[in-house]
Amino acid sequence: MLKIGLLGLGTVGTGVLEVLEQNRAKIERRAGGPLRVARALVRDPARHSGKPVELTTRAADVLEDPDIQIVVEVMGGLEPARSYMLEALGRGKAVVTANKEAVAEAGSELFAAAERGRSDLFFEASVAGGIPIIHALKESLAANRITEVLGIVNGTTNYILSQMSLKGREFAEALAEAQAKGYAEADPTADVEGHDAARKLAILASIAFEARVKPEHVPTQGIAGITQRDIRYARELGYAVKLLALAREEEGELEAGVYPALLPSEHPLSAVHDAFNAIFLRGDACGEAMFYGRGAGAHPTASAVLGDVVDAARHLRMGGRAVACTCYHPLHRKARGTTPRRHYLRLILEDRPGVLAQVARAFGDQGVSLTTVLQKAMVGELAEVVFLTHLASDVRIEAALGALSKLASVGAVGNWLRIEGERG
Ligand code: NAP
Ligand code: HSE
Repeated sequence: MLKIGLLGLGTVGTGVLEVLEQNRAKIERRAGGPLRVARALVRDPARHSGKPVELTTRAADVLEDPDIQIVVEVMGGLEPARSYMLEALGRGKAVVTANKEAVAEAGSELFAAAERGRSDLFFEASVAGGIPIIHALKESLAANRITEVLGIVNGTTNYILSQMSLKGREFAEALAEAQAKGYAEADPTADVEGHDAARKLAILASIAFEARVKPEHVPTQGIAGITQRDIRYARELGYAVKLLALAREEEGELEAGVYPALLPSEHPLSAVHDAFNAIFLRGDACGEAMFYGRGAGAHPTASAVLGDVVDAARHLRMGGRAVACTCYHPLHRKARGTTPRRHYLRLILEDRPGVLAQVARAFGDQGVSLTTVLQKAMVGELAEVVFLTHLASDVRIEAALGALSKLASVGAVGNWLRIEGERG
């Protein structure tokens, strides 16, 4: 009998108990023998009466119990989760965590502790909930040189953008719905501002590109500035607006970022709606691959946690260890804003002869060529005009917008979004 200790018994911890009970025979066959959740750490035992597990409020009851060989950390937050995991790993226990914050911020420390303890660290559930992307990147795709990872890894923002696109909702209305459905956190800032996606991208990129990428290496922009008009205009032009988590390697340099972008409607990620997540990647041997599924929720996340528990149990019973830290190389980051890509710009302009020529000149002065100009609607006395560009770096677009902001004929920059996922 292998004993498991849970740190946390909230949404995910309770899901782990339920799925283990539901599929116990199958899970134990895969794990090579019986498993038992021996104890769970909580803050307030009164909230958990009736749950089929012994409760404790003392972390030591889990961390220092020599009979507990697998510690499942599902409490969340950086501290004390990080310290508890370090202690468990140092004591030679296998650790399974769903905690993207701790893995993204303290991954190297946690892996070093696993090395010292000759123990395993698993974190499948930390990115994209039930989608087995960590295992795929670490093992199934190990024979590939990965060149691009493009993900929709935050369910809340994907739900909001889907509602804005499919149901015509405005941002605030769609956010309120996401909160009512329980997708968004009580404080949805990390979701809406892209920080949750940036942590998940840091974890994915560290594995895919074999260099330690931390959240602070991921320039991050959220979706609060996306309006119903941008979504509508993008759709008319053949694009969907998605919050993308992107990492791409070119000539040994890594570009990483989280930002809302236009994706061609035929791109597989454009069909990922509601709170679903997906990761699209490119490897030199496998070509394009996409992983799709539920990025959150008690049972999808428990599915990932228990898959890791099976691996941990097999290693404890039969020997062997998980693939350890894959950050073998120093990180070489691409200079910010230098990648050529196409752009979408929505400008509010005076509606009189010669204004478009002034705008075209400001772009032309930066070597930015326009492919599409569409006058959309009047905003009071001013005209709303949408521009798509040929390939241009962000730096060039910034410079053009700087020049445009000085023109009396330019009322405002309505929005500027990058276009990603186009071929050729
Ligand atoms: P949750 O519902 O808030 O549950 C957290 C649990 O941890 C609660 O049982 C809480 O105890 C316990 N806890 C928290 N801090 C503690 C402390 N200092 N000492 C003792 N116990 C403590 O959280 P969750 O949604 O299950 O998420 C857990 C982890 O999974 C997080 O890292 C999250 O990012 C990750 N994750 C969640 C999902 C999801 O769908 N929810 C998906 C993927 C990953 P009390 O019950 O007594 O308050
Ligand atoms: N708040 C996260 C999301 C939950 O919306 O995707 C899963 O990490």
